[in-house]
Amino acid sequence: MKIGIFDSGIGGLTVLKRLLTDFPLNEYIYFGDTLNLPYGTKSLEDLEKCADKIIKFLIFEKVDIIVIACGTISSNLYDKIKDKYGVKIIDVLTPTIKFIKENNLESVGILGTPMTIKSKAFDKYALNSVSCPLFVPLIESGKVNSKECEDAVKGYLRELGDCDNIILGCTHYPLLIPVLTKYTKANLIDMGMCVSRCLDIQSGKEQKVTLYFSKVNDILKNNVKNIIGDKYEIKEKVL
Ligand code: DGL
Repeated sequence: MKIGIFDSGIGGLTVLKRLLTDFPLNEYIYFGDTLNLPYGTKSLEDLEKCADKIIKFLIFEKVDIIVIACGTISSNLYDKIKDKYGVKIIDVLTPTIKFIKENNLESVGILGTPMTIKSKAFDKYALNSVSCPLFVPLIESGKVNSKECEDAVKGYLRELGDCDNIILGCTHYPLLIPVLTKYTKANLIDMGMCVSRCLDIQSGKEQKVTLYFSKVNDILKNNVKNIIGDKYEIKEKVL
């Protein structure tokens, strides 16, 4: 199958990585909109414009299915766009909510982007939710191991308070797991894992991965390498 995946930047690579492990023999086309990130503070109108361009590009590339590997677009726009393009579109939120329900998770806290938290999409299932505007800029600028990042993690966890389960409500946040686990014992839930267990993908014979980003620089290349290695070609493509 040919699977299209997109996000604002490198966050969706956490979803791609999971799918590559669970369904290795497929063709994957990834689009990270690094020119327009972060998505988490954009207006609904701007988010819709970004998603529209990317979905049309992936359809042009003849994908069979599109995975919105972005909590912000999933929580704000999925209902509006899921039937609009004549191609199957999957989001990260529906499978995550399914996971919460199926596992009867209680004592759930949410960390998400400002727009995801504003959407209230998780509110029914959570004790508390915290908007984390500092995380995506820190992650994208390669500062995951900085003191600044550690301080941000500590601050947001303090704000979230005690809970047994934390939904990493933005696909960038699994990249913070090594830092998060220093300061919380909660079970950290990765939306990529939730999506993967809901997908029914017929595998082919070989793997092909193409990574497109709307802005490529050395920091991005290094981030990509740290997440999924350097064997996949990175192409710059402005939509
Ligand atoms: N990784 C995305 C999300 O899951 C987008 C984050 C951003 O660009 O602010 O929300």
